[in-house]
Amino acid sequence: MRKVIIAGNWKMNKTIADAEVLAGSLKKSVGNVSEVEVVVCPPYTALAAVKDIVQGSNIRLGAQDCYWEKEGAFTGEVSTAMLKDAGCEYVIVGHSERRQFFHETNETVNKKAKALLKDGLKPIVCVGEKLDERKAGKTFDVVRDHVENSLAGISRDDMLKTVIAYEPVWAIGTGVNATKEQAEEVHKFIRGLLEKMYDRAAADSVRIQYGGSVKPDNIKELISEKDVDGALVGGASLKADSFEQIVRGSIK
Ligand code: PGA
Repeated sequence: MRKVIIAGNWKMNKTIADAEVLAGSLKKSVGNVSEVEVVVCPPYTALAAVKDIVQGSNIRLGAQDCYWEKEGAFTGEVSTAMLKDAGCEYVIVGHSERRQFFHETNETVNKKAKALLKDGLKPIVCVGEKLDERKAGKTFDVVRDHVENSLAGISRDDMLKTVIAYEPVWAIGTGVNATKEQAEEVHKFIRGLLEKMYDRAAADSVRIQYGGSVKPDNIKELISEKDVDGALVGGASLKADSFEQIVRGSIK
């Protein structure tokens, strides 16, 4: 049985004060939810404040990126040990915005995922095709490339701690979500890749989230699909009431 995981990706939003307000509301509304794993990923500057608020609840803390080197002269970067120290359990890597604007590649995503796992943190590895790639019939090729290369060399044990987020780029922040059939088709494909890379039992244990315009009114149908194990939520995670509705709507 895979436990549903709903993660809020706050992206570059929220001052510390605003993050505290949102975290406080979420603690009240979904802090006791146990059927679903709830994760919030604030910006680095708000991690400490949010950690203090969600402590003692079921809400887990996540970050939006990391660097793979241990420490040293890497101005502007944050290490996995620093994120662990800040109270993170999950870290998003390879988000399409990072691939697009910050030159993230499968190779750097892979280094980040491995560094996280080495430090006992759980990566949420994002994969997904762009609109022109989908239109050109390349969805499966792109997803295969992202999955095989972002996860290359990760042991079976580590894979079981890793979450994959399928996020079609054309669905992110556009209000146009993948249909449940489109999501399921790719999730099933990813599970098949995992079976080839590991084995059936591992493939059946890894959680695959869907991301891209997830909202209170579409979570129920998306989560009804067999291979959809949760959601990575951007815009709708910035408001307590919509995120709460998504969490509640995802209870299978
Ligand atoms: P969205 O973003 O929910 O605003 O589409 C999802 C994401 O980028 O993780």
